[in-house]
Amino acid sequence: MVIQDISRGAGKYAIVYTDPPWEQAKGGKKAVRPNSSGKPLDYHTMPLADIEEFHERFLQEHTEEKHNVFMWCIDKYLPAAEAFMARLGYKLHARIIWDKLNGPAPAFTVRFQTEYLLWFYKPGKIVMPRKERRGKYSTIIREGSTIHSKKPRAAYEMLEDMFPDASKIELFARNTRDGWDGFGDELEVSNGTNTR
Ligand SMILES: C[S@@+](CC[C@H](N)C(=O)[O-])C[C@H]1O[C@@H](n2cnc3c(N)ncnc32)[C@H](O)[C@@H]1O
Repeated sequence: MVIQDISRGAGKYAIVYTDPPWEQAKGGKKAVRPNSSGKPLDYHTMPLADIEEFHERFLQEHTEEKHNVFMWCIDKYLPAAEAFMARLGYKLHARIIWDKLNGPAPAFTVRFQTEYLLWFYKPGKIVMPRKERRGKYSTIIREGSTIHSKKPRAAYEMLEDMFPDASKIELFARNTRDGWDGFGDELEVSNGTNTR
């Protein structure tokens, strides 16, 4: 189901999968490459404080008692994301690393080839993977990146495989997916062209 109005349409979820629109420039880090154009992204972004406030409100109102939060994060925001989730009462269970197999070298130094899927839970309220899948997946996902910001198919498949019966929502989604509720301001645009 596509959620149009997050304050009214959403239910309660055991799996919250979120890909926040962190503020960043497309094509690299201007601070380390001052002459670069640092083009803005093709979609709306949110200041860090708004991302925190959004999640605080959503997680208070729209989670089942036991729930997991899987949050995508780029290097730049790792400390901030972990700090604000700690303020909201969450513990970090794992940093699942996505190896994109390639990536830009913004300062002509190393390639930024990884992103992080952070698994958070509240003490005593973690949702465990089904028995047959415990230990099947590791903290590394290896899958080539496709279009800018699109996350790997393997992440959805892993969550569906580990938590087949759990209620799931994707926040800041761009495509709908069977079995998931979705929210995002680009979701309708891409509706019907689900390629993942
Ligand atoms: C990082 S992208 C999501 C990419 C997506 N997970 C994928 O794999 O294709 C963040 C998305 O959040 C959307 N967004 C930004 N601000 C928003 C807001 N206030 N409400 C809803 N969606 C927003 C952006 O337009 C963008 O589609």
